[in-house]
Amino acid sequence: MRGFAELFGLRTRLHLRKLGRTWKFGMTSRPEQRWLRNYAAQRYRGVGAIVDLGCFLGATTIALAEGLELNRKANRNQIYAYDLFIWNKRYEARARGKEVEGLFTIGGSFLPEFLRRTQNWRDYIVIHEEDLRHARWEHGPIEFLFIDAMKSPEVATAIASNFFLHLVPAKSYVAHQDFPHCFAPWIHFLTFRLRDYFRFVADLPQSSLFRLEREIEPQALVRDLSPAAVSPAEIEAAFDYSISLVGDDKKANVTAAKAVAYVERGEFTRAHQIVTQSRYGPVSRADEFKTVKALIERKLAEPEPMNYDLPAPVN
Ligand SMILES: C[S@@+](CC[C@H](N)C(=O)[O-])C[C@H]1O[C@@H](n2cnc3c(N)ncnc32)[C@H](O)[C@@H]1O
Repeated sequence: MRGFAELFGLRTRLHLRKLGRTWKFGMTSRPEQRWLRNYAAQRYRGVGAIVDLGCFLGATTIALAEGLELNRKANRNQIYAYDLFIWNKRYEARARGKEVEGLFTIGGSFLPEFLRRTQNWRDYIVIHEEDLRHARWEHGPIEFLFIDAMKSPEVATAIASNFFLHLVPAKSYVAHQDFPHCFAPWIHFLTFRLRDYFRFVADLPQSSLFRLEREIEPQALVRDLSPAAVSPAEIEAAFDYSISLVGDDKKANVTAAKAVAYVERGEFTRAHQIVTQSRYGPVSRADEFKTVKALIERKLAEPEPMNYDLPAPVN
């Protein structure tokens, strides 16, 4: 029996090693997809569902499904993949020169392409074509929640209030894919406010991984995460906390996210202080620090900086 288990473990590791060299088109990197696959194959315990929020064309969903297929503890659990599945101009720009260029129309659905790409793992995936601002989770406990859809404070609050109460203390993990993204500062307010419930456990290739330690009180999840609704003292404390968690490669990006929080409040002078006085930057992932600094300097140069609409994070 032991020999069989060892053989099975060895085959799994060899297979994972081979799959680890593959990459599916999407907005996640090969190391991220590899981490998700390995997690689903080796660490996932089958005590609750795997949920992929913002599954896009299926790159993360497939990585998770490939892992689940190899996991003997999976207990027939599935991956619940949520998305609006609506193509937009920013995705079209990302698709330029790639295998999906020209396949979709702006405002049209890319669900058929998601279905085509994921067809080999059909039994492992439950698709939810819906807006996460209104989604209701009704499928029991969640063991792993991968979040790549907190693109606005409103969606972030909705996800937290609808999904987090189904996580299992001491067993469930949440990965925030946009944690180091400069245009998603609200994620830092959320993780800071929930710091007594979650423990930071790993700095992943892009995401930050948290484990739920104790049951969350529902009222902790409903507070407004818009930068305008958060006090400067809380912004400072939240980003001090986040910067202390992430690795050196992400500190400049998280600093840029802090500056963006002040930009969103219309406080350009404070935002500029952050990007000029920080000990992190200007080198950052995807050059986000310099992008944010240039944006703030453009705003400061305007005689009446009225409009400070910012791009939503794409990846
Ligand atoms: C950056 S992409 C995710 C990339 C994907 N994880 C991958 O590996 O390629 C973000 C996704 O979130 C989805 N999304 C954004 N806001 C949403 C909402 N309110 N409800 C459902 N999905 C949403 C978008 O449609 C998009 O596919």
